[in-house]
Amino acid sequence: MKGLPEDANYSIGLLDEGITPADVIDNYIFEQTHTGKKAFFVGDLGKLMKKRIEWQNVMAPIKPFYPVRCNSTPAVLEILAALGTGFVCSSKTEMAILQDLAIAPENIMYINPCKQASHIKYAAKAGINIMTCDNDIELQKIARNHPNARLLLHIATEDINGVEEMSMKFGTTLKNCRHLMELAKELEVQIVGVKFHVSNSCKEPQVYLHAIADARCVFDMAEEFGFKMNILDIGGSFTGSELQLKEVNRVISPLLVDYFPEESGVNVIAEPGCYYVSSAFTLAVNIIAKKAVEYDKHLSSGMEQARSNEPVFMYYMNDGVYGSFSNKLSEKLNAIPEVHKKYKEDEPLFASSLWGPSCDELDQIVESCLLPELSVGDWLIFDNMGSGTLGERSTFNDYQRPLIYYVMSFSDWEFRKDPKGCLSYFPPWQTVSDQQSGESWLSFHRPAPIRAAETRTWMTQEQPQVPSRGERRTLSLPEVPDHPEQDSAVPARCQQISFPLHLLTRH
Ligand SMILES: Cc1ncc(COP(=O)(O)O)c(C=O)c1O
Repeated sequence: MKGLPEDANYSIGLLDEGITPADVIDNYIFEQTHTGKKAFFVGDLGKLMKKRIEWQNVMAPIKPFYPVRCNSTPAVLEILAALGTGFVCSSKTEMAILQDLAIAPENIMYINPCKQASHIKYAAKAGINIMTCDNDIELQKIARNHPNARLLLHIATEDINGVEEMSMKFGTTLKNCRHLMELAKELEVQIVGVKFHVSNSCKEPQVYLHAIADARCVFDMAEEFGFKMNILDIGGSFTGSELQLKEVNRVISPLLVDYFPEESGVNVIAEPGCYYVSSAFTLAVNIIAKKAVEYDKHLSSGMEQARSNEPVFMYYMNDGVYGSFSNKLSEKLNAIPEVHKKYKEDEPLFASSLWGPSCDELDQIVESCLLPELSVGDWLIFDNMGSGTLGERSTFNDYQRPLIYYVMSFSDWEFRKDPKGCLSYFPPWQTVSDQQSGESWLSFHRPAPIRAAETRTWMTQEQPQVPSRGERRTLSLPEVPDHPEQDSAVPARCQQISFPLHLLTRH
């Protein structure tokens, strides 16, 4: 079973039991051996669903608002919307993407700390009212351009020792909150809550103690001014590890009980980004050029195993920092390559560095690592590539974003029916079955763009027409049976997919 490439009407390959996304990668690598050898992603949307369930289990009742900039591919946004996630946008483009997907504006916040006036106007027209603010110039700008805006005051957070300020760039002080409230009163702008963001460089969850206590002070201050505040946004920086999530929860739960008990009526929300998407996407890249250079102590620092009489290899890949590795420029990405081809355990390893295709000195993906000797045409696999890689497209050096092949296991697809699955309205996907190959897909046909202030939700959305895909037969959901193999409406082959496994296997 294959995944299918992302396009406006994306499809999701359903994987039979025992078939993994790694098999799908092998399959595409095999196919591409004779064609273009282009970089590509495989996105396991089942992982995304599981993350949403994990969040529900560990962090409920904190409602997640997903930052669109982390990964704005329609499949990701649609699944998260279906699973009851809200969204935070940092630009007009991101708001427009959500509008095209018919996501209700009340589930969207616009939280860029430095907003363009035209983007604020766009939000006003779209009915996106909640936005953040941390200074008076921003407040005046919002008052001028969005009379119905409802603000979250963005407060700065500090580390527990108060030595290093964690969010120096954004967020205001408690003292300035009073000033902003006075100004908001004057400008007749509503303030409805507080937002803070604990930087992901902060490894100490106790920083939440200060931030939540400060937020309480701002809520008390707001009462003096007559603002009715009911939102506390605790920001992002959840790594994706369940352990970290539990640790954060262990710290914040008692604080929330003390400072914002249920009876206070305050809705606590968070902005998990890479938590959801990072592990769901794997990138396969091809080596397009190779250089052997002489061993150099400086080049090879940290390469104790490398020997000075051996060459150091520089490999150039067909994707780099001006493409899918853009997070590398902000030091947020620790890219770990995995060699796709099989190699012997006792094969010699060489000091190596990995570069993107731009010939720019910034385009270095891995400074130094030990790899067996690779050839031009070999493939490298990078896991955890779902965050920061699939947002707005860069046009640098004619960059074309790699295709994305979406997959989901049958069991994950069936999981949507689990009553604990917290799935309210699933995207209007339909199964598409290929009679010749016996393969099946989930297919989504995006409805016509819905712009301006229209508010439609999944509940009210009409079932769209399935696009015809050549010879493929289409079947409608939600008629997918609980036990598909017993239902004659679904072709038996649909459940008997034989995956075309090839000789190339992931090492
Ligand atoms: C607005 C906003 N909130 C939160 C985050 C944090 O995301 P993460 O949880 O991936 O650190 C981001 C990251 O891009 C963001 O843009």
